[in-house]
Amino acid sequence: MTHLAVDICGIHLKNPTILAAGILDETGKSMIEVAKAGAGAIVTKSVGREPRSGHPTPSIVELHDGLLNAMGLPNPGIDYFADEIKEAKKGGVPIIGSVFGGTEDEIAGLAAQMSRYGVDAVELNLSCPHAKGYGAELGSTPEMVEVVCRRSKKGVSVPLFAKLTPNTSDIAALAVGAERGGADGIVAINTVKGMAIQPEARMPILANRIGGLSGPAIRPIGVRCVYEIFEAVKIPIIGVGGITSGMDALEYIMAGASAVQIGTAVWSEGLEVFSKTSKEMLRFMVENGFESVPDMVGVAHPDRH
Ligand code: FUM
Repeated sequence: MTHLAVDICGIHLKNPTILAAGILDETGKSMIEVAKAGAGAIVTKSVGREPRSGHPTPSIVELHDGLLNAMGLPNPGIDYFADEIKEAKKGGVPIIGSVFGGTEDEIAGLAAQMSRYGVDAVELNLSCPHAKGYGAELGSTPEMVEVVCRRSKKGVSVPLFAKLTPNTSDIAALAVGAERGGADGIVAINTVKGMAIQPEARMPILANRIGGLSGPAIRPIGVRCVYEIFEAVKIPIIGVGGITSGMDALEYIMAGASAVQIGTAVWSEGLEVFSKTSKEMLRFMVENGFESVPDMVGVAHPDRH
């Protein structure tokens, strides 16, 4: 019987669509709504040690084919988050807690605290491109990624995922660093560093000047990154970047992803995007003789034909 259920590092998902960090995932109540809409799992907003208000506005620019954001990691702080996780768990789908920090020790401490809150996995944000001292600044070399993952892994009792930056010449090397450091899975990709300029004003639109591009425009970059990572590591990959349909998700899965995350499409398509993506995937599987999602993982690689 054709089905969409997947298991990633022992976490059971009824379908492979996961809410990506950063949208509708700061409160337990909003996460329950996403679960009701059909997401197979949910990643929380990235949280840090202290509450942060993020960058001044304008912090988002709408483009033809995506969004450019420089939110600056606004979040209520980890201590506040225990109750939100407790509430979110009522949605009945796995919750993945995302954390960011300014040093390896800080990230490891946050990962451990998040793990104690009862999440099903922890995602390390080693890739936000627009928050000075955080995100990609802790994840820009394989060595840094390895050290952060190794430190974090020691304190968590659940699977550990590393979310990597595409703003590098070799994302596969970063993934190898994560695997060496003991990460259980890779999440690829975070946003692509970009800028928009308002010609009349002769200045960048974002108050932070530089932001991260998400949405359909970056899907070919994400698919290429997942394809390269799949050839370099053995741990599962979760693909993210520009997915708005079942066919988009299938590109990531055939490149090597075991599941996918959806973020910007929640803004552009609404919460229905989770059930629509799942339905479209299932239809493709029935029509093309695939019984399960794992049967399709990596089939775009020549040796998997
Ligand atoms: O500001 C933000 O929450 C963005 C996070 C990210 O790009 O990882």
